[in-house]
Amino acid sequence: MASEKMLKALNEQLNFEYESANYYLAMGAYCADEDFEGIENFFMVQADEERFHAKKFYDYINDRDGRVKISSMEEPKNEFSSIKDAFETALAHEKKVTERINNLMKLAHEESDYATISFLNWFVDEQVEEEATMKTIIAKLDRIGDSPQGLFMLNKELGSRTFTPVE
Ligand code: FEO
Repeated sequence: MASEKMLKALNEQLNFEYESANYYLAMGAYCADEDFEGIENFFMVQADEERFHAKKFYDYINDRDGRVKISSMEEPKNEFSSIKDAFETALAHEKKVTERINNLMKLAHEESDYATISFLNWFVDEQVEEEATMKTIIAKLDRIGDSPQGLFMLNKELGSRTFTPVE
């Protein structure tokens, strides 16, 4: 069994992943309001991913004989000044997630909890992807600038994103 301290920290991350899903739902709702359905789709898929992450923590805590507890969530940011603002908020959020995963990994190492280290490795790799995805889109938005045609193309591109769970 993992230590109580480790299980509590994993449970906190489970809740943070659900909170992350809400962050992305709020970004999606902003894009829907701005009539960018493709970008809205991107954030909806991102919310699906976050719930998938949360479920991984849920299963792992149960597998280690811990008790999952769901806590209340903070209200996400609902207002954005632009599409770019939404993606910059997303990148800042993912950096926060990365920091949290790194702290969990640090604790697992301190406790010589090899099973948790193995479990968290997936998240370490995933966070590299999560940050890279947001950075790439911000770079595209920088190139697009004020071009309505560029934004139209990006909206089309992000509209094709689908949720594919990678175990
Ligand atoms: Fe679950 Fe986007 O990190």
